[in-house]
Amino acid sequence: MVEISCSVLDVEEENSVKTFYNLETAKIDYFHIDVMDGKFVKKNTSKKMRDYALKISHISNIPLDVHLMCSDVRKYIDDYIDLKPDRITFHIEAVSDKEEAIELIKYLQQNEIKACMAIKPGTELENIYEILPYLHMVLVMTVEPGLGGQKIIPEMIDRVKVLKKYCDEKSLDIDIEVDGGVNDINSTELANNGANIIVSGNYIINSENYNESVKKLKS
Ligand code: DX5
Ligand code: ZN
Repeated sequence: MVEISCSVLDVEEENSVKTFYNLETAKIDYFHIDVMDGKFVKKNTSKKMRDYALKISHISNIPLDVHLMCSDVRKYIDDYIDLKPDRITFHIEAVSDKEEAIELIKYLQQNEIKACMAIKPGTELENIYEILPYLHMVLVMTVEPGLGGQKIIPEMIDRVKVLKKYCDEKSLDIDIEVDGGVNDINSTELANNGANIIVSGNYIINSENYNESVKKLKS
């Protein structure tokens, strides 16, 4: 069974608490917090996302799934430690080498946060292979990071299959999360290919009925 991580990136500030409450009622598994620094990607959502994550942690026990689209990874990890997120994902493109990645992974683990890494569509999948044994999850970007509401890049659906096959061959038990442009039509194939956590933002947020849309993504 797949788990659903709802991106709150495009939740409007007005009525945000009510939206968070309705998402909780719809039985999402995680709140996905899209932190953008204005450097790694154009947009800067750092203030809005910190504010949302704080609000969510006050009203809900649903775990936080923090996605850092940030160049200064350590600084943004520090921004979230007090909120005790379940997991934090940083980008392979944001670190200079394997050593730096492992240092950040250890830092997260010392703080009892699951260490996860994301990969952009244009980065060779093989680049992440040597770091896999240290990771709890890989986030496969299915769109270019930076914006919600984009269309999925179809080639990324196959990428999930390749990654899952590699993990199985190496007996690596790692979560595979997909993020960007996921809806009730492509979610089945993504899950069949090995994704076990599905991020969805606009598909859920723009739907009439959160309970129905979350149920559709899970089935
Ligand atoms: C993109 C973000 C995603 C995305 C999800 O940079 O990481 O989390 O906005 O939203 P939808 O489902 O609307 O693509
Ligand atoms: Zn994201």
